[in-house]
Amino acid sequence: MSIEFTVNGTAQVVEAEPLTPLLHVLREDLSITSPKASCQHGGCGACTVIVDGEARRSCLMPVEAARGTAIRTVEGLAPAGGELTPLQQAWIHHYAAQCGFCASGFLMAATAYLEQGGTDDRDAIVEALGGHACRCTGYVKIIAAVQAAARGETFDLEETAVGANTTIKGVER
Ligand code: FES
Ligand code: FES
Repeated sequence: MSIEFTVNGTAQVVEAEPLTPLLHVLREDLSITSPKASCQHGGCGACTVIVDGEARRSCLMPVEAARGTAIRTVEGLAPAGGELTPLQQAWIHHYAAQCGFCASGFLMAATAYLEQGGTDDRDAIVEALGGHACRCTGYVKIIAAVQAAARGETFDLEETAVGANTTIKGVER
């Protein structure tokens, strides 16, 4: 069956069984790999994309339900050669990604939260990111990054990189 939608502003037509998870169509048919295939039961958030402005677990969404929608993924946040969004810059500045496996899902959920007028209120951010699992960061840095983006803070990422390098050299000595 043919199903049409857009991904990051580009029209797509896929041939798929209606109940195929959107996650599989994105990754296997369209080679859009930022949504991660992790638990595939709705429990971790790694597969999260934005569908018509709402954060959705793509592992739980049948592709038929995406017919006619506008889907966004991390690939569309900062197109090749484009500038990172303030949220992505804050993610780097606050070291909110360590292994990075969870980052795509968190970034899309947090992007939807901010676009819907989300503030730097910690409890509201925790609520918006509920059910997203990260095995590395302890969540503190992730929440700090979302709070920074909500406040409109900007960062010089070259200084962030220099700071990280200095720290590493300090450890080596
Ligand atoms: S892979 Fe979709 S929620 Fe875990
Ligand atoms: S940064 Fe490793 S799982 Fe989140």
